[in-house]
Amino acid sequence: MQREPNLNNAALMARRQAAIPRGVGHSHQIFIERGENAEIWDVEGRRFIDFAGGIAVLNTGHRHPAVMQAVKDQLDKYTHTCFQVLAYEPYVELAERLNAKAPGDFAKKTLFLTTGAEAVENAIKIARAHTGRSGVIAFTGGYHGRTLLTLGLTGKVVPYKTGFGPFPAEIFHARFPNALHGVSVDDAIASVELILKNDIEASRVAAIIVEPVQGEGGFNVAPPEFFQRLRALCDAHGMLLIADEVQTGAGRTGTWFAVEQSGVAPDMITTAKSLGGGFPISAVIGRAEVMDAPAPGGLGGTYAGSPVACAAALAVLDVFEQENLLQRCRDVGQRVMASLQALAQKHSCIAEVRGMGAMIAIELCKNGDPHQPDADLTKALAAEATKRGLILLTCGTYGNVVRILVPLTASDAVLDESVAIIAASLDSLQAGA
Ligand SMILES: Cc1ncc(COP(=O)(O)O)c(C=O)c1O
Repeated sequence: MQREPNLNNAALMARRQAAIPRGVGHSHQIFIERGENAEIWDVEGRRFIDFAGGIAVLNTGHRHPAVMQAVKDQLDKYTHTCFQVLAYEPYVELAERLNAKAPGDFAKKTLFLTTGAEAVENAIKIARAHTGRSGVIAFTGGYHGRTLLTLGLTGKVVPYKTGFGPFPAEIFHARFPNALHGVSVDDAIASVELILKNDIEASRVAAIIVEPVQGEGGFNVAPPEFFQRLRALCDAHGMLLIADEVQTGAGRTGTWFAVEQSGVAPDMITTAKSLGGGFPISAVIGRAEVMDAPAPGGLGGTYAGSPVACAAALAVLDVFEQENLLQRCRDVGQRVMASLQALAQKHSCIAEVRGMGAMIAIELCKNGDPHQPDADLTKALAAEATKRGLILLTCGTYGNVVRILVPLTASDAVLDESVAIIAASLDSLQAGA
């Protein structure tokens, strides 16, 4: 089809409505023309700062030059063989480097796939093959993907699960700790123990899967003690501990994997998103003997661990080392968090500013009461910020959390400009309230 010379967002959205199912939602009515580091330009020539990063995919920014160069070099050699048919070295090198990065003083192996959901599905398959057990414990407010198994694990109904059931059996949801809303670590652990009393005996549970910071669920941070107690429960009952780091991994929280900050080594870690610097790749990293449980031929996929995505991911790992991005992540987190905390002093609609590294959330409430979620204000804040040139995403069980996933490569000037936009947007919405 011939491209129209004067593209605009409204006309493209109309074509999109006619051609694409409504189930694919849109946070913003914007079509991108070009992206560079933390900025994008739309088809109408407007500039925006991107605090969404394609939902946690762009820790190294749009089109990092080193990632682009690695991909171009790879394109000149070969683009696809299917790893199960003809092997290639970048897959092996990436596995070796991730094995070395994952916490735990034991031998590890890594499997590559394409999406986060696929990584989670495979981690559960591997856990079942290794333990010979079927049960899985996940958490309320958790998000693990859109395939039927991962939807079964997901602990949020609207919009993800609506109309898609029934979901696979033998999945149980425990409570995730949330200090702001009165769920202590004791409460959360007690809810796991209750499942083992009321629903399924521990000897039939293959794994507990948990996000170190719940992503879609509202950027709720798991305290280190929670991970330590889950580890102890798993060890006591022969269950595997899986950390779903699809959103938290690849340096978003100030360490390569967020779980490192709890001192716990999970049996498996799922990772994806920013690992590929904008190219689709996901991984399951785990104890070698666990990962080897499925028989030859039991794991894989046509595009799984594509050579182009492996080349991109290797470049992402290099960029983290060369640009000291883990330290930058902690600095970005501190800078943004400090400004937002100052904003919270001024606005009683801010129930809490929280986060880990540069994975930061603002939870909004009504009447200064943290227990009255304000989804309307949250939506309005994202819309107002967009008008002023900042792309924000929302999340949370009650849709009342703004989440910040800015590229770690963003300059201080861009960070300060963005926080000023958030402040001005809130001021104008509160003035009009
Ligand atoms: C923690 C977590 N697990 C799994 C997924 C699913 O990843 P994907 O959308 O790549 O399938 C996501 C996506 O947001 C996620 O945040």
